[in-house]
Amino acid sequence: MNMMNPDISLSNETVPVSEPERQYYYIEKAKTYVEALRERLGRPVTFCVTTFGCQMNARDSEKLRGILEQIGYIEAEEEEADFIIYNTCTVRENANTRVYGRLGQLKPRKQKNPHMMIGLCGCMMQEPEVVEKLKKSYRFVDIIFGTHNIFKFAELIVNRFESDRMVIDIWKDTDQIIEDLPNDRKYAFKSGVNIMFGCNNFCSYCIVPYVRGRERSRDPKAIVREIQKMVADGVVEVMLLGQNVNSYGKTLEQPMTFAQLLKEIEQIEGLERIRFMTSHPKDLSDELIQVMGESKKICKHLHLPVQSGSSRILKKMNRRYTKEQYLDLVERIRAAVPDISLTTDIIVGFPGETEEDFQETLDVVRKVRYDSAFTFIYSKRTGTPAAAMEDQVPEDVVKDRFDRLLKEVQTIAAEVCSVHEGTTQTVLAESVSDHDSTMITGRMSNNLLVHFKGEETLIGKLVNVHLTECKGFYYLGELVE
Ligand code: 5AD
Ligand code: SF4
Repeated sequence: MNMMNPDISLSNETVPVSEPERQYYYIEKAKTYVEALRERLGRPVTFCVTTFGCQMNARDSEKLRGILEQIGYIEAEEEEADFIIYNTCTVRENANTRVYGRLGQLKPRKQKNPHMMIGLCGCMMQEPEVVEKLKKSYRFVDIIFGTHNIFKFAELIVNRFESDRMVIDIWKDTDQIIEDLPNDRKYAFKSGVNIMFGCNNFCSYCIVPYVRGRERSRDPKAIVREIQKMVADGVVEVMLLGQNVNSYGKTLEQPMTFAQLLKEIEQIEGLERIRFMTSHPKDLSDELIQVMGESKKICKHLHLPVQSGSSRILKKMNRRYTKEQYLDLVERIRAAVPDISLTTDIIVGFPGETEEDFQETLDVVRKVRYDSAFTFIYSKRTGTPAAAMEDQVPEDVVKDRFDRLLKEVQTIAAEVCSVHEGTTQTVLAESVSDHDSTMITGRMSNNLLVHFKGEETLIGKLVNVHLTECKGFYYLGELVE
């Protein structure tokens, strides 16, 4: 029986079996339920999607928003929303802890407002222990789905409206990529574009391959078509997204390389800037370095996670490169693209990491001189090979190393950042500054932010800005007419 909307009868229409038609059918159906709820409440029905984690998740959330808006939900702040969705991350344990904390806070609100719905999706839901825990201790959650079937969101919403039970749909893996579903871009002028899903690398600390499944690349034609449509719609910058973009195209029926894909995307008229992430050093080819060196549109920024500077630890991490190979790669990239900005991810406290290993990491940081680095304390993820490794490093030792690393990274980053002072750079105006409404915040090709006096009408445009003062990790500048 339909407990939430008893006045709506189930129809006997035939449901399309192929996608995305099936989901468009469910979007129409969900609309009727949301409309009925709107009438009952006497006001619009609202939603809020909160994203945890990486840019892949952020892009997935845009797809969720697109579907919700087509169904007739209106976006609102979480405090007011009738439908709250958490798109979760599980790369480190604290990401899980945060979600449980937020859920605990939602419980009394949901009890007071039984029409409310709570949806959970994303990487954390791919872990069977998580779903078990939710089933046992968080019965008030309405919909749970994973990373492989977000395209089914409308169908799951309808299922929930038509039942009085928690709807759970988690797929272990998939080889499907469903194209042409709605999505709602956060920015009018820039967008993430998925080029591949999943990861086959199995770095020994990482849970991603278990929760995002095997690597699969999108058809290049679908990627180009999507970007062309975005450009027609005002997008000037794209961020190509994948866990390991450098291995793009290997699984396609007609294999192609990431460098070849970049060349095709470069041809798209009206597209001004191309970014991509993440790159795995082991797969970064000379062909790609050459394309980056020759390109007019690829931004001068490369995120190249090193994870550790110790070849011994890198081996235990299953990264499949040594410290020397990494440093050599950096040299080759800098030779081809001299003014490139390099950023990285570093883990401290991987099992068995000694002070000597840690010094190797500091050495890489000093040699490469990153523009910025994301530093992480190793987090034990159940089911990964590293979780079973002996000699986990004591917490106080890790914390001490983490502090020393952060200090080194920040000192170098401030020095590296300041070298552009006095130059004029092309900047994409992105938003009105958070701190001063007469200022615009823009992003340079190398990903650094600059604040300058300007009108809101500049947003979405590429403008020239003279960098007058470096403020550590960002600049103050003046618009050059
Ligand atoms: N512990 C700490 N950091 C991790 N990362 C991935 N798995 C773990 C883990 N178990 C970091 C890596 C990766 C980034 C996205 O998250 O540095 O590049
Ligand atoms: Fe995780 Fe390694 Fe895959 Fe990155 S490349 S998602 S760190 S397994």
